[in-house]
Formats: sequence, C-alpha cells, structure tokens
Amino acid sequence: MASPAAGGVVIVGSGLIGRSWAMLFASGGLKVKLYDIEQQQITKALENIRKEIKSLEQSGSLKGSLSAEQQLSLISGCGNLAEAVEGAMHIQECVPEDLELKKKIFAQLDRIADDRVILSSSSSCLLPSKLFTGLVHVKQCIVAHPVNPPYYVPLVELVPHPETAPATMDRTYALMKKIGQSPVRVLKEIDGFVLNRLQYAIISEAWRLVEEGIVSPNDLDLVMSDGLGMRYAFIGPLETMHLNAEGMVSYCDRYSEGMKRVLKTFGPVPEFSGATVEKVNQDMCMKVPDDPEHLAARRQWRDDCLMKLSILKHQMQPQ
Ligand code: NAI
Repeated sequence: MASPAAGGVVIVGSGLIGRSWAMLFASGGLKVKLYDIEQQQITKALENIRKEIKSLEQSGSLKGSLSAEQQLSLISGCGNLAEAVEGAMHIQECVPEDLELKKKIFAQLDRIADDRVILSSSSSCLLPSKLFTGLVHVKQCIVAHPVNPPYYVPLVELVPHPETAPATMDRTYALMKKIGQSPVRVLKEIDGFVLNRLQYAIISEAWRLVEEGIVSPNDLDLVMSDGLGMRYAFIGPLETMHLNAEGMVSYCDRYSEGMKRVLKTFGPVPEFSGATVEKVNQDMCMKVPDDPEHLAARRQWRDDCLMKLSILKHQMQPQ
C-alpha cells in the first residue's frame, strides 16, 4: 500500500508554525503527515487543528474548496520520521530556531530523502549556507520562511543555498501558489532575509524617535497602523513612490534630495536597553498588560483583524 504521505507533505515539528503549514497544505488538497519528537505534541496538534478548521468553516473563513471534514481527512500524525517521509514530495521543517538542532534534522533527512523530495526549512533567520552546506541533497534544499500567523499573512520568503537547484526554487514557488500563499524569491541569501531587514529598519527608527523624545510610543505605533500601514497592506514602498508622483522617475526627481537629507540624520543602531525599554514597556503594558491572558486576547483580536483584511485584499485584487 502507498504511504499516506505519498505525493504529499511532511511537517517536521508540530508546534505553532508546523500546525499552520499543515492547515495550509490541507486547504490546497494535499496529504499532510505531522511528525514530532514528542508524540504528545502530535496529538495536541491534531486536536488543535481540528478545532481551528471547524471554527474557520463556521465563520466562513476556511481556505480552499474542500470542506472542513475533507481537509481534516488529509492530515494525520506519524511518530516515525522515515515512515512519514517515504514518497513525500515536500518536507517542511518547523523545529525550534536552533542551528545545531536544525542541522541535525537536515542531516537525518539527508540520509532518508530520495532525489526528488524538497527539503524546506521554516527558519526565520538561519542562513541556508549554515543549514544545508555539505548535504548530499543540497540541491533540493531551500528556506521557506512564513510570517506569523501564516494562515492569514500569505507571504513566504524563499531563500536558496548557493547550490540550490533552480528547479527546487520553482517547485517550491509553485507549491506555495497552489496553497494560496504569496511566495517571493530572495535571489541571494542575506542575513535577516528581506522581511526582517525591512522590519528592523522600521523598528530601529521607531526606537530612535521615541528615545530622542520626538514622539510617544503609542503615537509612534499610530503612525504605522493609521498611516503608512493603511497603504502598505495593499502596495509596497516602491509602488507608493510611483503613485505619489507622476511615476517613479518623477518621484526621484522631486523627492530624492529631501529623502537623502532626512536619511543622513538617522542615528546609530539602538541598544534596545535601559530607560527607553522601560518607557516603551510602560506604554505598551497600559494598552495590553503583559500577562498571558491579555496578550492572548490581543493576539486573537489581531488575528481576527488580519482574517478580515485578507478577505478585503482578496476582494480588492486588481483586474
Ligand atoms: P514551536 O516551539 O512552537 O514548535 C517546535 C516544535 O518542534 C515542537 O512541537 C517540538 O516538540 C518540535 N521538535 C523539537 N525538536 C524536534 C526534533 N528533533 N524533531 C522533531 N520535532 C522536534 O516553534 P515555532 O514557533 O512553530 O517555530 C518553528 C520554526 O518556525 C522556527 O524555525 C521559527 O523560527 C520559524 N518561524 C516561527 C514564526 C513564529 O512567529 N513563531 C514565524 C516564522 C517562522
């Protein structure tokens, strides 16, 4: 009999991100095998996924064209890695962000992988050259970095090792599209990939503006949520430039001097310590106390907002 994951996907590590990937792959009609070193984690993941998928169906937000039961029937657990991997076309590693642990997992996968399966890591910031160098199947290796929560935020950064085969990038890209995600090709590996480099640039200037007493922490966040972020949910910074003048060339003609003048006033990398942490923390805790209940409730609200935004984005697709 064919293995249950034949032609399907294996998730290695059934925590927060592994569960989200499982739901996404099932929404695209793919068979999913969940593996974890802790049998209890697999059981918990399957229970949690059942609850989530049922509740998404009830609220009308379930992705894909299959019913909740059909999607659930595609997902199963497996406590034996070699068995789970047999015949799979894609393996998505989701173990904690620890280089040595991930290297151990990929060395293990390298020994049991055939010559076709894609070996993909969810790593947020470990470079492919650190993760995959020396593996026999390095051509089949790639980082596919999702954004939390992946069910509502579709971006996936695809980052190749210098020896990754173009076909690995293409197949992973096509798979991400098939499950409704929004893949981007990072052409060469770089520390922080693209998303975190942009995020850290913003955090860095936000921190300096608060540290220098230019704006309060709450008002700083409002500049993003009620200002820049309104546009950025639909168009990026480069298209913003294009639209904010008579095209990109006109924008650069008009605004490059001003941009350079302001950019030259940016300060050094912040320390993220001392009095500024206390000040920012105080304001954040006034808004959202940092106990588990308040944080969980606010995350739930954030996810509800993102779910509604993803519906709106879908409706607003340009013709
Ligand atoms: P997590 O801690 O929720 O889950 C990790 C899972 O891996 C646990 O179930 C654990 O039992 C399992 N595990 C540990 N050692 C294992 C082994 N040797 N074999 C198989 N399973 C093992 O972690 P989370 O948050 O899901 O993160 C996973 C990966 O996704 C990390 O690389 C992280 O950087 C990345 N990521 C996380 C995001 C987030 O917001 N949490 C966003 C994007 C990427």
